[in-house]
Amino acid sequence: MCFAGDDLQDGRCVTVAGHPDTELLPADDAGLDRAAALLREGRLVAFPTETVYGLGADATNGQAVASVFEAKGRPRFNPLIVHVPSLAEARRCAEIDGDALRLAEAFWPGPLTLVVPVVAASGISDLVTAGLETIALRVPEAPMARDLIARAGRPIAAPSANPSGSVSPTTADHVMSGLSGRIDAVLDGGPCDVGLESTIVAVGDAPTLLRPGGLPVEQIEAGLGRSVLARDETGAVTAPGQLESHYAPSVGVRLDAKCAGAGEVMLGFGDVDGDMNLSPSGDMREAAANLFAALRALDNADGRTIAVAPIPDTGLGRAINDRLRRAGAPRPT
Ligand code: TXA
Ligand code: MG
Repeated sequence: MCFAGDDLQDGRCVTVAGHPDTELLPADDAGLDRAAALLREGRLVAFPTETVYGLGADATNGQAVASVFEAKGRPRFNPLIVHVPSLAEARRCAEIDGDALRLAEAFWPGPLTLVVPVVAASGISDLVTAGLETIALRVPEAPMARDLIARAGRPIAAPSANPSGSVSPTTADHVMSGLSGRIDAVLDGGPCDVGLESTIVAVGDAPTLLRPGGLPVEQIEAGLGRSVLARDETGAVTAPGQLESHYAPSVGVRLDAKCAGAGEVMLGFGDVDGDMNLSPSGDMREAAANLFAALRALDNADGRTIAVAPIPDTGLGRAINDRLRRAGAPRPT
């Protein structure tokens, strides 16, 4: 299997095993049905939204979501935006009330993503939320996106449909030139109207702008009747208590362990077994899908350090190792 580093040349990718031909699906009933069926099977389908083309996967299927990171060559498990067809569906996945409800009612469908508390029983893979207790949700406006998500019948996780590090695609051609051979299909709905990613607002004690985007912040402030906190150039939020914290275990993590030492629990991978095993068969997608649940489960083991079996630093392994390294890094005080 090839991956970013090996297979990203001048921003273009060469073929990855498992996706010999990427289907270009027309924007008609048959194309939408095919795209929805692929999504339900856990496959990857790029589709147009009003902002940019998204690389869609069933948000409840951890292995499908792992494939998104793999196809993009993303070296990190950043949390992904989940796309739903309506506010009612959004409320099955997240707690939406107060300011969040006002913003949803004012601006959905449209280019606004809300970061809100995830509902535990939502069935959303914790690879989508990167183990956080919040989820980024939006209801896209593009009719084709809404039709596709409704036909798929499940929430769809979708980052922009480009290889990691290159610009977001606004036509099916852009998607093909970056991801052909790495994903199952592209639904061709012509150029995107907005051409810029959605605006992301975290709604907590004080609404905070996490990413400027297709919906101007002035409109959001007018809708809320109050101002929205912004991040400064360093990425820090301009008020305390607003930083979203990435899930990190409360105990230490030791990488590249062959076996557990005294006072450690062991997280295995492949042949190197342990108290839990991310993937006994050494399958990276399975390991990625299991990662956050395993960290949480082992975090309860009497404050013992988590020793982790060696994980090859290629493909999804890079993102897994990145997450483990950051989990094991000293906490900010
Ligand atoms: O317009 C868009 O938003 C496009 C289309 C396809 O919908 N999607 C998109 O997704 O840009 P993506 O994955 O490239 O951007 C996701 C952003 C990341 O910056 C991520 O850190 C942030 O959303 N995000 C997701 N969940 C979050 C959370 N729980 N807390 C904070 N930030 C979150
Ligand atoms: Mg992107």
